[in-house]
Amino acid sequence: MKKKILITRKLLRSNEDRASNIWDAKLNSNDQIYSKKKLIELSKGCDGILSSLTEKIDEDVIKNLPDSVKIISNFAVGFGNIDIQAAKKRNIVVTNTPDVLTDATAEIAMLLILGACRRANEGINWVKKENWKWSADFLIGKQLTGSRLGILGMGRIGRALAKIAKSFGMEIHYRNRKKLSTEIEDGAKYHESIKSLFSVSDVLSICCPATKETKDIINKDTLEYFPTGAIITNVARGDMIEDEAMVQALVSRKIYAIGLDVYKGEPKIHPEYLKQPTAFILPHLGSATKKTRISMADLAITNIEEFFNSGKCKNKVN
Ligand code: GLV
Repeated sequence: MKKKILITRKLLRSNEDRASNIWDAKLNSNDQIYSKKKLIELSKGCDGILSSLTEKIDEDVIKNLPDSVKIISNFAVGFGNIDIQAAKKRNIVVTNTPDVLTDATAEIAMLLILGACRRANEGINWVKKENWKWSADFLIGKQLTGSRLGILGMGRIGRALAKIAKSFGMEIHYRNRKKLSTEIEDGAKYHESIKSLFSVSDVLSICCPATKETKDIINKDTLEYFPTGAIITNVARGDMIEDEAMVQALVSRKIYAIGLDVYKGEPKIHPEYLKQPTAFILPHLGSATKKTRISMADLAITNIEEFFNSGKCKNKVN
């Protein structure tokens, strides 16, 4: 008998075709975002769920999933939307999709840096107003060459960004749970504390996972560590930033500009970000290329196949 898999969001056609060939796949052709109640209801009779970051699969949801559900394969590298411990207690395997989105996400991380440093938002606003003129001091931004890039979280995406940023002439600093080997560091300087990292970050890129330790890591106190006029960018998760404090820092010009792709409670965005000309903001586009989205969904499907074929899965996170 074919396994029955609930696929919570619409995938690209080739991925849905593959899933439907393998399983009795319950697709979401309208691409609506399911409430917790609906998710539980739809998972009745299913062997697994292919979820995405838009579903909050917390302890309450996990407790109410039917016993038949053995795996939740998240269509994302991040899995902060799932209570992986609660899943473990119920013997539900949780998997993610690392590697395949590294390059696409690092590209967006670089775009955030460029957009924030070179005042892209203000530039676009001027162009739309049609009454701009070139002048020697028009929209002067910050040049990347020779500036220091702090990378918070030197995992796959952080390291891919480091490589790109080096080609822009930036000097790389990082903070990570563990110091990397000299070979992997590739010239980047490790910092023992966030205070030490932030104090040398002309530009910061947040690339770390959302955990209890990293929640609100950018806050009123830690913002003080940065050099005045620093730029902060975030390609990871909105949970890492205390928005009120960030807005205050932008208004006071302690922070020169921000570049954000992710938000606390997205798709909601702190309304002040929309008003700040120095905020270069995108709607969570990190992995949004056709090549990457196809590879991510393919991997999410393969994770489920591998699990049902062998009882194991290399991308298990719990
Ligand atoms: C995207 O944000 C992901 O975690 O894959």
